[in-house]
Amino acid sequence: MTMTDGVTLLRGKRIILGVTGSIAVYKAVDLASKLTQTGALVDVIMTDAAQKFVTPLTFGAVTGRAVYTSMWQTDSGSGLPTHIAHVGLGEGAALYVIAPATADALARLAHGFAGDLLAVTALAARCPLVIAPAMDAGMYAHPAVQANVRTLVERGAYLIEPDEGRFASGLHGKGRFPETPALIGAIRAALGRGGNLEGRRVVVTAGGTREALDPVRYITNRSSGKQGYALAQAALDAGAQVTLITSADLHPPYGADVIRVGSAQELHDATMRETIRADALIMAAAVADFRPAAAAEHKIKKGEGDAGLTIQLERNPDILAAVAARRERSGSPRVLVGFAAESRDVVAYGQEKLARKRLDLLVANDISAVDAGFETDTNRVILISRDAVEPLDLMSKAHVSETVIERVAQLLT
Ligand code: PMT
Repeated sequence: MTMTDGVTLLRGKRIILGVTGSIAVYKAVDLASKLTQTGALVDVIMTDAAQKFVTPLTFGAVTGRAVYTSMWQTDSGSGLPTHIAHVGLGEGAALYVIAPATADALARLAHGFAGDLLAVTALAARCPLVIAPAMDAGMYAHPAVQANVRTLVERGAYLIEPDEGRFASGLHGKGRFPETPALIGAIRAALGRGGNLEGRRVVVTAGGTREALDPVRYITNRSSGKQGYALAQAALDAGAQVTLITSADLHPPYGADVIRVGSAQELHDATMRETIRADALIMAAAVADFRPAAAAEHKIKKGEGDAGLTIQLERNPDILAAVAARRERSGSPRVLVGFAAESRDVVAYGQEKLARKRLDLLVANDISAVDAGFETDTNRVILISRDAVEPLDLMSKAHVSETVIERVAQLLT
């Protein structure tokens, strides 16, 4: 999965990017570029101080749109009603992101100043405001700055906390402008507020489990975790609170609570615990059906296998079946989604799994295809429910996930 996958949430959305005077402006150029690549329409407003670091031409080149620098600008060339620029920019915008936001900008926003285009647009716009402060750690910790941040958050602004680390000054502390993937993740989370899974708790499992043979070796499978991570991102985009239980090493989506596991037994224990109060469980993990009956305490030596090495396997618990059995008594999670990795008779095996594991929806994928199933960025799935079989075209795992999440939302209403 790349961070610009699953772009439906951003595609065609107009985002105002307010850029203020910080050395981090160069990173805001990358943010503007990546947002544009997702399909968002990015209108950049630069303060005078921001233009000391980067010129409007740079932002215009990556967004392909006019860049706004003055309240008195009347001709943008972009078709916006810019004779009253601040009103025209705010109108129809999905989000106003101020990144990087300096201490000065935060103070002006908190106190409702309207002396430049960036500040006056914040007063005129009706869309949610996102602030990404960036400054020296001592400045960020100052009570005046913290009070301004608090005021903005209390008023409904979405705060992207700065990172801790090294500053251009050579000092260390909290105040660094986050990297683009985190910024995009936070912007997605802000846009996802009020989505069709708002207030819902969704647990997603991802990756292939690892069954230990000895302290250095394990049995696993080809699952990369891409499908599960894309599902977690799609659930976040829909406004859900997401717990991702994973044995994969991918970078998790912004905003997910991540629980790392290794074996099927660990996955079982975490899933049982996390689904007690969940609305939905989506099991995309490739769970080993068997594990070595006893993992060797010490590394198995070559000599021990001279006459051939036999590994005794025993069954792992069926996690979905265990959650479904508990649901009979507790009623939750209300929605159970399983996957089926099949190489033949995909629909028949899928229908059998749906019934045996007492699921609401089963996502069957043909893992013998080169462009679907394990490790690929695309998947070709068949959605199987008690009364329907719906084959979907080949599409990105992000788009498969959006479709599955839509079904989960429907099942929950
Ligand atoms: O991770 P990727 O590289 O992106 O690949 C994605 C995928 C192919 C792994 C994914 O799309 C997928 O098919 N996941 C399910 C793999 C699997 O274990 O299928 P299964 O047919 O063996 O199991 C059926 C269902 O029961 C699955 O939801 C599985 O999570 C669950 N199961 C299986 C065994 C077990 N002991 N407990 C379970 O709960």
